Amino acid sequence: MFNTDKIVGLLPAKMRSQVDAYFEALQVFMEIRDPRVLAALGPAGVRGLLLHRGKQGGPTLMKASHSAHFDWTYPSDQPEMRELYTRAKRGQWDSDTTLDWSTSVDPMNPELRLLRDGFIDFSMLEARGIRLDKKEQTKLIYSITSWMLSQFLHGEQGALFAAAQVTEAVQFFDGKLYGATQVMDEGRHVEVFHRYLDEKLCKLYQINDNLYVIIDSLMTDGRWDMKFLGMQIMIEGLALGAFSTIYKSTNEPLLKSLLKNVIQDEARHVHYGVLALREHITKELSDSERREREDWAFEVALLMRNRFMLYEVYDEWFEGLMPRSAWREFVQQVPGMFEFRQTCFSRLVPNLREIGLLSPRIMPHYDRVGLSQYFGGQSADKITGEQMIRELDGQQRSAA
Ligand SMILES: [Fe+2]
Ligand SMILES: [Fe+2]
Repeated sequence: MFNTDKIVGLLPAKMRSQVDAYFEALQVFMEIRDPRVLAALGPAGVRGLLLHRGKQGGPTLMKASHSAHFDWTYPSDQPEMRELYTRAKRGQWDSDTTLDWSTSVDPMNPELRLLRDGFIDFSMLEARGIRLDKKEQTKLIYSITSWMLSQFLHGEQGALFAAAQVTEAVQFFDGKLYGATQVMDEGRHVEVFHRYLDEKLCKLYQINDNLYVIIDSLMTDGRWDMKFLGMQIMIEGLALGAFSTIYKSTNEPLLKSLLKNVIQDEARHVHYGVLALREHITKELSDSERREREDWAFEVALLMRNRFMLYEVYDEWFEGLMPRSAWREFVQQVPGMFEFRQTCFSRLVPNLREIGLLSPRIMPHYDRVGLSQYFGGQSADKITGEQMIRELDGQQRSAA
């Protein structure tokens, strides 16, 4: 393990945060134990964390290689997926008429709570020598909200392409029909998040490097179940937790209604991911293949945890004012981000258990990184989007 602070501290201030970022990336990859996982994540890691491919300003081309699975007999093979397909058709909504785009949103209005009071504890910044006045505090909340919604948007673009690929590649015929509805859902999600950022917040952050690595890795992996695991379980599972945190936290009516509709779609997506992977992992894969996926999921969970460090906000606001390591510590402790991570992993870990990727072999590793408290939680196939919204509304009422 590197003593990062000591080495970085010897460098001129301008180089410090770049070197800290390299050390952090290197540590993530040095800790990967399974060489197959390193081979699967490594090239995407170089492209994302070292070359910053997602931040070059132009389009990114990723080579996709998977087999399209045709079935000319059109079997009725997965009744639960068929049922989800029916629910998805009925649950379609039109983004133009369902959401009230005439709502005026002024992110600098101190009365508007994009995120609840206390989401950021500003005294924790003061303890690190940074004092913000009221206007700057509102502006920082505006930056953080825009950053989070920008990452949702980039994740949605990945979800749109992954859903299209998986629809081709999956072997379940009922899954293909269901997948078609998900492609439509994800297209709508890209549209609404982009429109909100563009028209209402007028701000868009570049993709976070850790999120880029995961998207790059699953888009270029030819195995459909890896795409599925990465997108439907990891990215979507965590996104569902993240959407829920902001849904509970904001009092901006348009954002709330946007998230309410997206959450109900996402609940179906994660449900589908659990159904398809449970069937595949527990019935089709060898033990060695299952172990590889179990290790891959754990490493991706760690990358996802790093994704929440808001480094792009740090670069904009605090580079040169405090070390990157102090920012990391701040983000780990600040109440809103703490809650954000808790909710995200409380959604993700039970789904990993349900699809057979939480064996006693891997549990101690989750325990080591503080995630064992979610081992017994409720998985996505046990809860609908409507139930989820009711629960969130109930939690918000009792907190008020
Ligand atoms: Fe989505
Ligand atoms: Fe989704």
